[in-house]
Amino acid sequence: MTDATQAATRDLQDMDRHFLHPWEDVTAIGAEARTVITHGEGIYVTDSDGNRMIDGPGGMWCVNAGYGREEIVEAVAAQMRDLPYFSPWSATASPAAILAERLASIAPGDLNNVFFTTGGSTAVDSALRFAFFYNNCLGRPEKKHIIARVGAYHGSTYLSASCSGKMLEKTNMDMVEDRVHLLPKPNPAERPDGMSVKAFCDEKVADLENKILELGPDKVAAFIAEPVLASGGVIIPPEGYFKRCHEICRKHDVLFIADEVVTAFGRLGHYFASKDVFGVEPDMITTAKGLTSGYLPMGALFISDRLIGNIKAVGNSAKGFFSGFTYSGHPVAAAAALANLDIFERDGLLGHVQKTAPYFEKRLRELADIAVVSEVRVKGLMAGVECCLDPDHPDEDRDTDFLLDVDQICQQNGLLLRPVYATAVMSPPLTITENQVDDLTAILRQGLEAASAR
Ligand SMILES: Cc1ncc(COP(=O)(O)O)c(C=O)c1O
Repeated sequence: MTDATQAATRDLQDMDRHFLHPWEDVTAIGAEARTVITHGEGIYVTDSDGNRMIDGPGGMWCVNAGYGREEIVEAVAAQMRDLPYFSPWSATASPAAILAERLASIAPGDLNNVFFTTGGSTAVDSALRFAFFYNNCLGRPEKKHIIARVGAYHGSTYLSASCSGKMLEKTNMDMVEDRVHLLPKPNPAERPDGMSVKAFCDEKVADLENKILELGPDKVAAFIAEPVLASGGVIIPPEGYFKRCHEICRKHDVLFIADEVVTAFGRLGHYFASKDVFGVEPDMITTAKGLTSGYLPMGALFISDRLIGNIKAVGNSAKGFFSGFTYSGHPVAAAAALANLDIFERDGLLGHVQKTAPYFEKRLRELADIAVVSEVRVKGLMAGVECCLDPDHPDEDRDTDFLLDVDQICQQNGLLLRPVYATAVMSPPLTITENQVDDLTAILRQGLEAASAR
């Protein structure tokens, strides 16, 4: 690396001190000299010093089709030349119309109504606002409580953050408290000694039903849940849990919102995991991230015909859903999404994930032989490797610091991780091959062993 390269990196890091990053400690703003990522190709990113690394988290669970997709670049450039923007209030732009139809055709069940948003948080916020709107239209304005879960992550708007259950991240942040209720985390690893996974599942499903009964079914609007709690550390609820929660919601006329911001668009080997993996047709599904593979910001909320039909059945008066964004159905983002879906089809990405996921799981599970690894959780192409230095003396701060060490070592050896407290979280681009899985797990092993030896 030349002096000039190093100096250029330092300049960028200095400029970056004005960028208040997500989750940044404002008392230390600008203190951290962040890695500057300048290039991406396939599953790899390169930093400003020329170091090439596997992108373990796939951006932020989003670069599903991988980096360097010329087709998306071309589609975006062509759309910008034709029409960069037009108001979704007064007209429609062709990519958005085509995308809406295409998404409706691949969405499960009767989820035929697509409400475009700017990302995942706004998709979740819109789903919750739609649930309130729905009950207002149906003449039951009291039915407004939302049930969510500890460990979940649903976004960073006021309402979506309030439904998130990463408790530490509520510190110093205001939350909607009067209508949001969090159930205990459905993590089978945290069940009491001697309790079977089946009994634990029964208990977690009962938690939901009991909460609905406690609040009163006529007061509860919706239950929102990720099929796999992603940012919570890849928590995989027990078999059957998601489906049984859906049944409880149907029984009590509570809307079931599947937050598939991470799991949709291939992460679990299907466009949507709700139906194909968990056997559920939700009332609403929220998506973002993999919709454009992160090439441009966009989210999409899917709303069922059943809900729209119930609103229509109330009477003949108009019922405006007074919600939307300047960039709803943004033509350039929609063009990126269409090109992204073309890649999924042409390259058979869903089939590739179905074929590669068992190997990914096998190689990751082998890491459990390292003393410090307390649990390996894998579903599709998402994984969490949790570490605990001393199970007899649990100390989350100590284990979080350990993971930061692992992260640093892995980065030096060519792998970017995402430490979530004591868990290394991974969701690589879906194009990852078995050889690349070998590289990823070998570097991670090295990192875990080297950090343990320190
Ligand atoms: C399950 C889930 N929902 C919602 C969001 C929020 O999405 P965004 O950051 O695009 O607003 C995220 C982000 O990680 C997520 O993982």
